[in-house]
Amino acid sequence: MKFFILSGSPRAEAQTLKVAQYVQSVLTREHPGAEVDLCSLSGNPLPLWDEATGGAPDALWDPISAELKATDALVVVTPEWGGMATPGVKNFLLNCTADEIGHKPGLIVTVSASRGGSYPVAELRMSGTKNNRLAWIPEHVIIHHVEQNLNAPDDAADLGKEDQSQRKRLRYALRLLEEYGKALKQVRASGVVDHQTFRSGM
Ligand SMILES: Cc1cc2nc3c(=O)[nH]c(=O)nc-3n(C[C@H](O)[C@H](O)[C@H](O)COP(=O)(O)O)c2cc1C
Repeated sequence: MKFFILSGSPRAEAQTLKVAQYVQSVLTREHPGAEVDLCSLSGNPLPLWDEATGGAPDALWDPISAELKATDALVVVTPEWGGMATPGVKNFLLNCTADEIGHKPGLIVTVSASRGGSYPVAELRMSGTKNNRLAWIPEHVIIHHVEQNLNAPDDAADLGKEDQSQRKRLRYALRLLEEYGKALKQVRASGVVDHQTFRSGM
C-alpha cells in the first residue's frame, strides 16, 4: 500500500516534521509492503494559489501530483497556529484535485506545543475537501506537548504516560487508515464516481 504524508509546518525545525517522520517510520517498519512519500512544506515551497497560473507551477506540482495519484491513503499533519491549520496546508488542499486524491482516505494529525490541536481538526473536517473529495477517516490524532513527546526510540525505558498513549493512538489510527485504504479502492473502482457530471462538491 502507498501512503502520502504531508508535513504542514513552514518552519525549518518544525515539530510537525518530527511527527511526520515518526509516522513515516511506523508505516515503513510496521506495515508490510508500505511505500511512503513524505512532502514537507518547510520553507513554503508552494506559492499561494494564483489565478494567473491556476495553481502551483507545474515544475513544482507535477512530482507531487504523481505521488498523490499513486497513493492509496494520506496523512495530513498540521500544527495548530493561531487556532488554525496552517495556510500552507489549506493552500495544498486547494491545489489538490479529485483526480489525485478523490475518495482516498485521509488521517488528520494535529500538533500542539501545549494542550491545543482541536481547532485544526475541526477546521479540516469542515473545509478543504469539498472539491478534491478527500475522505477524512473518523479517527484523528492530536499530539499534545509535542516538544516532550515522540523524541526517544519506542523501546526507551523512560517514556512518559502521554508519550506512550500518543504512540499507541497513532499506531491504531494508522492501522485503521490502511484498512480504509483497502476499502476505498473498491469505491474508486466501482464505476459510480462521476466527476465529469458532478465536477464540484456541493
Ligand atoms: C505563529 C504560531 C502560532 C501558534 N499558535 C498556536 C495555537 O494556536 N495553539 C497551539 O496549541 N500552539 C500554537 N503554536 C505553537 C505550536 O503548537 C508549536 O510551534 C508546535 O511546535 C507546532 O509547530 P511547528 O511544527 O511549526 O513546530 C503556535 C506557534 C506559532 C509559531
